[in-house]
Amino acid sequence: MTTPVGETTCRVCRGPLGEFLDLGRQPLSDRFLTEREIPGEFFYRLAVGACASCGMVQLMEEVPRELMFREDYPYHSSGSSVMREHFARTAHGFLESAYAGPDPFVVEIGSNDGVMLGAVRDAGVRHLGFEPSGKVAEVARRRGVRVRTDFFEEPTAAEVRAAEGPADVIYAANTICHIPYLESIFRGVDALLAPGGRFVFEDPYWGDIVEKTSFDQIYDEHFYFFTATSVRAAAERSGFELVDVERLSVHGGELRYTIARRGAATPAAAVAETVERERARGLTAPDTLRRFAADVERVRDDLTALLRRLREEGRRVVAYGATAKSATVTNFCGLDSGLVEWVCDTTPQKQGLLTPGAHLPVVPPERFSTSHPDHALLFAWNHAEEIMAKEQEFRDAGGRWILYVPDVRVV
Ligand code: SAM
Ligand code: TMP
Ligand code: ZN
Repeated sequence: MTTPVGETTCRVCRGPLGEFLDLGRQPLSDRFLTEREIPGEFFYRLAVGACASCGMVQLMEEVPRELMFREDYPYHSSGSSVMREHFARTAHGFLESAYAGPDPFVVEIGSNDGVMLGAVRDAGVRHLGFEPSGKVAEVARRRGVRVRTDFFEEPTAAEVRAAEGPADVIYAANTICHIPYLESIFRGVDALLAPGGRFVFEDPYWGDIVEKTSFDQIYDEHFYFFTATSVRAAAERSGFELVDVERLSVHGGELRYTIARRGAATPAAAVAETVERERARGLTAPDTLRRFAADVERVRDDLTALLRRLREEGRRVVAYGATAKSATVTNFCGLDSGLVEWVCDTTPQKQGLLTPGAHLPVVPPERFSTSHPDHALLFAWNHAEEIMAKEQEFRDAGGRWILYVPDVRVV
């Protein structure tokens, strides 16, 4: 079944989109399924292009949002201890910031299981999460977090403004890049944000994706691959200003963007410096994009060659972390259960099901510790430190990790 919404012009400025990478026929990256559901599985063409006018890197085809962010969306933000700490720090940063007034109101777009707003709630501060995926929203509610089970966009934001007043902070992590209708997001922010408030969001950085050849950051949910240059241009189109950028090490390298109403704050030096660095690196120049596409093919060839050799040598290879990112790797590289036995993952909702497209069985992490595989392909490479520390016994017993970011290697 294929019913994608076609797009050949830039979703932000309507400029011409130049396609530079085709990752082929791909399933919904977070749609884990049973054997019986395989015949009806949804597929679309995963390809990426860059806008010649505003520089925004984006998918060529949009997948309807209701197919991705459903009642049983399985991703739980609280699954990593490093991320729990990151979001607690973020919440405290907002509460201590100059733009949070005496009775601040903090709104989060894509609040998921309440990992960030939980800390705001514990501080007794007014807050509201927008989270369309029903089950994760319910987990947040059980923690005492206020959540509206809705997509954030202009009409829903305006309703909140009318009922609850202006927000001092509107925050989003790993969510704005999921939203093709960016203009409606900015109109929603315009409706809801206090005059001196800030719109802060963080997403995987195109600069890191290019540097690390982390092509698995490209999947249905990640519609945009932001740079300071493209975000600044998009903000300005909507009457806002990019006033700060900050590098984050989480999720393989991100940028955090701080946006204010035009003229409400003086941009930090980091904005112009980052934009200039992006220009000097030619982050969206045709040569860079061609080289990136060639690097992606090299990683695919190296990874499949390694896995085939290990199979010939009779080694047992499993995978670690049934990430959304891994759907791109398994489907683009043609990894089936002949090459990778199964994937272990801590998310109960994923266990017992098959991975999208490649149909590898998902098992609980206990299976990893008890079954002594020779090699483990680390799909959750962005959580490498946390996972490798937890699984030190595997390494001590002679097990080896297979990594493919930035290059294929066995450690
Ligand atoms: N903020 C969390 C984090 O960083 O771990 C969750 C990120 S998760 C990858 C993206 C979340 O955004 C999902 O929970 C999804 O349901 C939600 N989402 C998608 N579109 C949205 C929209 N228009 N408004 C609010 N939430 C949205
Ligand atoms: P993410 O890379 O999108 O955050 O997804 C991480 C996936 O890996 C998620 O399904 C949870 C899983 N996971 C584990 O199985 N064990 C772990 O220790 C961590 C941190 C994540
Ligand atoms: Zn554009």
